[in-house]
Amino acid sequence: MYIDGIELINYRNYEKLELKLNNKINIFVGENAQGKTNVLEAMYYLSALKSHRTNKDRELILWNKNKAYVKADIVKNLGNYKLEFLLDVEGKNR
Ligand SMILES: Nc1ncnc2c1ncn2[C@@H]1O[C@H](COP(=O)(O)OP(=O)(O)OP(=O)(O)O)[C@@H](O)[C@H]1O
Ligand SMILES: [Mg+2]
Repeated sequence: MYIDGIELINYRNYEKLELKLNNKINIFVGENAQGKTNVLEAMYYLSALKSHRTNKDRELILWNKNKAYVKADIVKNLGNYKLEFLLDVEGKNR
């Protein structure tokens, strides 16, 4: 199984990120506080439905926004899947 791509909207410091991933090795390079761990955290959230860094979903939503959305395209032997979640400070998370 691998993640073919991931999209973030208003997640942490990303207003919009569309990232295509390699099916074997991906290397995230960047200065401190650029958002490398934030991308990994979004992937973790998709599998565990919680962050590995905080239990406050509000912290995951871009400052001044009310919703965050994350979607990943998953490739498995038996087919392709889409995993997504929406964090909503006003309504229910989905
Ligand atoms: N809810 C949020 N809205 C906007 N920006 C945020 C939010 N939460 C965190 N950030 C920003 O995300 C950045 C930190 O991102 P991250 O921890 O992914 O960096 P990193 O690239 O992993 O850094 P390092 O190399 O130090 O590990 C900081 O600039 C922080 O201000
Ligand atoms: Mg980091």
